[in-house]
Amino acid sequence: MKHENAHFVHLTDLKAGREYEYELFYLSPVVQTPVSYKIIRNFKVPEANLQEFSFFCTTDIHSDVNTLRGNLKSEAARKAEFQVLLGDLLSHAAGRESLYNGIIDPIVREEQTSPIDRPVVFVRGNHEQLGVYAAEYFTVMKHPSGKTYYSFTYGNTFFIALDCGNDEQDRGNDYFSNTKLQAEEKEFLEKIVKSDAYINAKFRVVMLHIPPLPTNRNVYRMVYDMISPLVNAATVPDLMMCGHMHEYLRIDANTKTYHPNSISAVYTKKFPDTYQLPFPVIILDDKAGTEVKVSPAEININTFLTAPDGSVKQVIDTIKIKAKK
Ligand SMILES: [Fe+2]
Repeated sequence: MKHENAHFVHLTDLKAGREYEYELFYLSPVVQTPVSYKIIRNFKVPEANLQEFSFFCTTDIHSDVNTLRGNLKSEAARKAEFQVLLGDLLSHAAGRESLYNGIIDPIVREEQTSPIDRPVVFVRGNHEQLGVYAAEYFTVMKHPSGKTYYSFTYGNTFFIALDCGNDEQDRGNDYFSNTKLQAEEKEFLEKIVKSDAYINAKFRVVMLHIPPLPTNRNVYRMVYDMISPLVNAATVPDLMMCGHMHEYLRIDANTKTYHPNSISAVYTKKFPDTYQLPFPVIILDDKAGTEVKVSPAEININTFLTAPDGSVKQVIDTIKIKAKK
């Protein structure tokens, strides 16, 4: 729509490995003639079955644009093929422009230094339900499926993005209705784990905001129930990535204790109980950036804090996950 401030084109039939060019035009205000300001950009579709690539993750930015800028300036972010935002971009959407001011514009500004446009993957957090303008998420971050959970294949890896809903119990007015949404996602996962794309991928990475934990607050147990088709699948995921806790936590596959590089969760001041899961779970730090490098034999994950110029200030953890086959 010409009068809207967000414009979308869903492209189909893109060819693997090909680079595409596009141009943005302004419409003159009265007679609406397209006017070129020579804003020409490119993007590339990954090679089919690409074996080596990296992506860069941040979480729980809560409008801390300065930290985000430092992270996006890091060498890891500059080299990444795409970026993942694991939810809680803002604390609440207080106005129509808040998603632009708080998250989209800082990313676009950093992206302009890149010769090629790169995708951003949005994973919805609980704070994406807060604020009078929360529903703007469905305009600005909308997925072509219309859903806030989805899957995609990038190179040799199958990705699943889930929506954990709010961290509150359902309310009668349907404002927070996690139960219905999570039941829908559980069904979605039951189908996914039987799909060829999931089973035959070299790696399977699951991204969701709230981690599954057996804590007193039922919301974490509900997340566990939602992801149970992944736990019980014949082929389990290779990695689960979460946010929400605001500190770095790592639980290796088939263990019930936190890895020593974990930092205690800020809200509880102690490590919450964990489930023993057949795949590793990493809960990303709100200030750190996490680089995930995929190769044919393994996934390497580096989590670090950056200075405002993007240089690495402190390495928090490095992990290697070997391919199952
Ligand atoms: Fe959160």
